[in-house]
Amino acid sequence: MGQPIVVVNIPELSIAAQSGKQAFDKYCASCHGSNAVGQEGKAPPLIHRIYEPNHHGDMAFVLAAKNGVRAHHWSFGNMPPVDGVTEAEIKNITIYIRELQRANGIN
Ligand code: HEC
Repeated sequence: MGQPIVVVNIPELSIAAQSGKQAFDKYCASCHGSNAVGQEGKAPPLIHRIYEPNHHGDMAFVLAAKNGVRAHHWSFGNMPPVDGVTEAEIKNITIYIRELQRANGIN
């Protein structure tokens, strides 16, 4: 894994966020890093002001996984659609990311 881009405080996670973490580790962490700290040369941290709920609502997570993302905020390149992740998993992933964001003053 490349160098993390941000340092993140890890809160006590709700049950939903704990399953979200499992799904995140399976489908997203290879790029976004464990606990979504980002990874140099790969993908941005999701624990970042850019992704606070007002800028990127929960739907942004569903759409990102389903359709992929065209590079627009960073220069990592495009995010490809993520195969195999279910909407229920994305919902828990979003709960997980929001709990991490809140524990790091992003809300
Ligand atoms: C192959 C690497 C890769 C994987 C796997 C990946 N991402 Fe991404 N993701 C990226 C990159 C790169 C960007 C930044 C695009 C940009 O420049 O704005 C991004 C951006 C995003 C965004 C911001 C979308 C927006 O509207 O700007 C969200 C949300 C996101 N990813 C969630 C996820 C989730 C959830 C998963 C797992 C289900 C995941 N990503 C898996 C590479 C990846």
